[in-house]
Amino acid sequence: MAKKKTSSKEAKPAAPATGRPSALVDTRVIYCGDNLEQLRKLPENCVDLIYIDPPFNSNRNYEVFWGETKEKRSFDDRHASTKAYIEFMRPRCEELHRVLKQTGSFYFHCDWHASHYVKVMLDQIFGENQFINEIIWKRTSAHSDAKQGSKHLGRVHDSIFLYAKTEEYGFTHLYKPYNEEYVKSTYKHTDPETGRRYRLDNLIGPGGASKGNPHYEFLGVTKYWRYSQERMLELYNQGRIIQTNPGRVPQYKRYLDEGKGVPLGTVWDDIFPIQSVSDEGLGYPTQKPLKLLERILEISSNPNDIVLDAFCGCGTALVAAENLGRQWIGIDVSPTACRVMAKRMRDVCGVKEDEKLWRIGRGFVVRDLPWSEKKLRELPPFEFENWAVIALGGRPNKAQVGDMGIDGRIYPVSATPKKTEGELQFMDVWYPIQVKQKDKAGRPDIDSFEAVMMREDRQKGFFVSFDFSSDAMSEIQAFFKKTGKSIIALTVKDILEEQIAYKLA
Ligand SMILES: C[S@@+](CC[C@H](N)C(=O)[O-])C[C@H]1O[C@@H](n2cnc3c(N)ncnc32)[C@H](O)[C@@H]1O
Repeated sequence: MAKKKTSSKEAKPAAPATGRPSALVDTRVIYCGDNLEQLRKLPENCVDLIYIDPPFNSNRNYEVFWGETKEKRSFDDRHASTKAYIEFMRPRCEELHRVLKQTGSFYFHCDWHASHYVKVMLDQIFGENQFINEIIWKRTSAHSDAKQGSKHLGRVHDSIFLYAKTEEYGFTHLYKPYNEEYVKSTYKHTDPETGRRYRLDNLIGPGGASKGNPHYEFLGVTKYWRYSQERMLELYNQGRIIQTNPGRVPQYKRYLDEGKGVPLGTVWDDIFPIQSVSDEGLGYPTQKPLKLLERILEISSNPNDIVLDAFCGCGTALVAAENLGRQWIGIDVSPTACRVMAKRMRDVCGVKEDEKLWRIGRGFVVRDLPWSEKKLRELPPFEFENWAVIALGGRPNKAQVGDMGIDGRIYPVSATPKKTEGELQFMDVWYPIQVKQKDKAGRPDIDSFEAVMMREDRQKGFFVSFDFSSDAMSEIQAFFKKTGKSIIALTVKDILEEQIAYKLA
């Protein structure tokens, strides 16, 4: 990225924190919580690059992690209109503008549902003149949207708005390789000695005398030339100028291997969406491709710069930052998202979640995950289910509706399923988990879980709730006596106090 000037308006660093990469702000941290609250805790002018991909005001996106039903409804309720969506985003974008360094860049990823309103809002916050580009990312192919009978064209792209905080923002031009057709039709010649491909380029000075081009005779041709007479001679002696016939205008030999490629424009159709069967796919419906984020980071950040994603989902921007040697900060309101991205950081980037390592500038930490019964009671039901299932070491059920009474499955270590062709190859050894975000699960709750255990013919199952009525506990005992199948009742307190290992023994 082009060298940035350091603005005098940037916050002065506090006393450097030992071992931490930035004295202004902690990096390599995932914060769990509403970004409005989390951002307010950050100092101003402290991050170099912000990318956000908030849940849109659309039916296609939802605040879901593993499914698209319950959460989709919750999204629709909250952002019933574009106005409500913009009202939700505005204070967050104002905070993001505040924490962005004077030299920093800001990317807002959205789609047609709200993009025009988002642009107006961002113009108001950053200033119209700070708008740099609208990037069109072709995220899918036409047939997925324009179905037979529909009366619109296929909506196949997302918009990514790029803003700079001031004129001093950093920027690196990227280039794409020339396509084969272009190479064939343009670089038509080959050096017989070296085999290098080249094309013949104009040496005449554009604009003639009006642009101050020198006028002289060269190889018998008098023109306004692009270069001085000395430079022309030098190039000629280097074999870079040829005259195909005496009297013809000499031309410059431009080699293919010296070209940078085609400068990247605003239409990006060469980065494909995540396929559910790909190695990269985590089963998260709004996960963005790593390549997309790496490209953004390459354009607008330098090694060791601080990248912030305040709606970071499963952490694609953080992984891109880690891969490219940038510092990073992630925020997400979903504890499930935070856990998934922490796992991804460990598995994909090989970085350890470890407070001690973090203190010496390695490793990372997750902050503010819900840890109290009170906080867990306040979680949306699907988040609570995911929290409980993950805490038990299980896999949450992707289908949130039509889950047939199973919120998750535990696979004993010996029977961990393998991923084949994007599907889990289910082994028969698994135990169902049922989660109820209730003060007290009662006998009817246990009755219906018993039906699940019978239907699925499971020997063991887990039931999580805040507490269980005495009726529920007697029913569990009676069920065991009658069928030999055991239901393990776990309270949230048991999980928080890590009593699970004892109960499972
Ligand atoms: C579209 S996803 C981001 C996907 C991400 N770009 C990726 O590639 O994984 C949006 C995320 O924003 C999070 N989110 C929604 N409202 C939020 C808020 N107020 N504060 C923090 N995160 C929020 C959701 O939990 C969700 O994970």
